[in-house]
Amino acid sequence: MLLPWARGLGARCLSRQLPLACGAPLRERAARGPRRRREGEGAAGGLVLGIYSSEKDEGPAQFTSAGDAFDRLVSGKLRELLAVCGPPLKKGKTRIFHGLHQDFPSVVVVGLGKKNAGVNDQENWDEGKENIRAAVAAGCRHIQDLEIPCVEVDPCGDAQAAAEGSVLGLHEYNELKQKKKLVVTPQLHGSAESEAWQKGVIYAEGQNLARYLMEAPANYITPIKFAEQIEQKLRSFSNVKVHIRPESWIATHQMGAFLSVAKGSAEPPIFLEIHYLGGANTNDSPLVFVGKGVTFDSGGISLKPSSGMDAMRADMGGAATICSAIVTAAALNLPLNIIGLAPLCENMPSGKANKPGDVVRAKNGKTIQVDNTDAEGRLLLADALCYAHNFNARAIVNAATLTGAMDVALGSAATGVFTNSSWLWTHLYEASILTGDRVWRMPLFEHYTKQVTDCPLADLSNIGKYSRAGGACTAAAFLKEFVTASHWAHLDIAGVMSNKDEVPYLRKGMAGRPTRTLVEFAARLSQDSHNTK
Ligand code: BES
Ligand code: ZN
Ligand code: ZN
Repeated sequence: MLLPWARGLGARCLSRQLPLACGAPLRERAARGPRRRREGEGAAGGLVLGIYSSEKDEGPAQFTSAGDAFDRLVSGKLRELLAVCGPPLKKGKTRIFHGLHQDFPSVVVVGLGKKNAGVNDQENWDEGKENIRAAVAAGCRHIQDLEIPCVEVDPCGDAQAAAEGSVLGLHEYNELKQKKKLVVTPQLHGSAESEAWQKGVIYAEGQNLARYLMEAPANYITPIKFAEQIEQKLRSFSNVKVHIRPESWIATHQMGAFLSVAKGSAEPPIFLEIHYLGGANTNDSPLVFVGKGVTFDSGGISLKPSSGMDAMRADMGGAATICSAIVTAAALNLPLNIIGLAPLCENMPSGKANKPGDVVRAKNGKTIQVDNTDAEGRLLLADALCYAHNFNARAIVNAATLTGAMDVALGSAATGVFTNSSWLWTHLYEASILTGDRVWRMPLFEHYTKQVTDCPLADLSNIGKYSRAGGACTAAAFLKEFVTASHWAHLDIAGVMSNKDEVPYLRKGMAGRPTRTLVEFAARLSQDSHNTK
């Protein structure tokens, strides 16, 4: 019998066109072509194999079943080499071996940590899955650094996690550089678990789409360009409708708070509306996602300091993650209806911009005193949340890079979730345990509401009266003033917007978090027969 990894490698190394591949449009990339393999680089690819640490501190490490099979094939040489070349491999550490087998000139062995790691209820995640993502990402990058264009990856007992680690770990934004990293296409090693592998690829490519949109410069991802990119990603799905609403539509819908932010910029605003109809009936109550889409947040007249201001190109992270989650849901053909709403604009200082103290009127008639023009996200979301109530939603979930205070509170460990529904919270929380992209529940006390409703000129102030104290909570309390639905959650994703080195399977840069948690949440909701309406 032909062993799985010994099959026609040439064919397996061809890069496939994956449904959600991001970066330049596929047509464009095909024309430019991926960087070709150099002469003498060899036809075969790399192999990433996992290894568990021993249960006791000494004792031999344990291969995965793929590792065992490979070791048998090379007559136990891999085990021998590992034993002589240093201490046991720690979690996430890699060791490379060359020339063991002609089909895999380079074999990277990666440490998976303890074999029986599962849900860790202190850490609120599945540690086994996280270990696989981190290990496999390190292994694939090692192969990429060697400029080997294809790599087969050990499923390590959880092919979805392995695919996520590979595809997330290899992603890098180099769209605008002339010198690009070699495109490495990870493939499943062996034929078992191929469905789970493919699911992992789709989840990870969803997150990579959000990373791509967030990382791209603000002069490339303007409101209209953002909408066009999403429309293009959804074009092939017959059960998806995309509406790109212009400024006149926004004005007709009396979204005065959103328009007040947009008018400071020369770039026209867009209200992006997506309808994914995957449910059994097109009139089944949808899940409604809403995302803050500030394609650049300078602060407006309350101008931000210039140092680090470039990161505010990712202030459309809410829109990027919810839209990418819908693209992913469509690729997975999830059996539910989802509506996505993204108010998109820039926040700029100009002669037309909001001035501190101005009063604007939101769609539900409430007046808002704009005490700080840098607290613009809540103005866009106020109108979008009012509009979200038109759809008889099962649940309304908004995501926004809303407050620096959220970053101060939790850092990048978890997305802050403010919700009026324990049912919704449970679904989000359980989804996040699987994805490893965690959530943490935050309060929506009346205490905070009082601080935004005590306002000299209008019904609401756009900042809390004690300004910095509990800033993420006063922002959430402000949004609550535009919600009457009984299942609503606000996700403040400012803290998880970017990655330095905290998430080992993401490179430094915009993180696209928590796209996979939103997808997993939608998948769970599609299985929940509990009718909340
Ligand atoms: N987009 C920012 C919040 C932000 C900060 C996101 C850092 C990601 C990283 C938001 O519009 C903002 O500027 N909020 C102000 C609110 C304040 C003026 C009440 C903030 O957090 O400082
Ligand atoms: Zn701002
Ligand atoms: Zn902002």
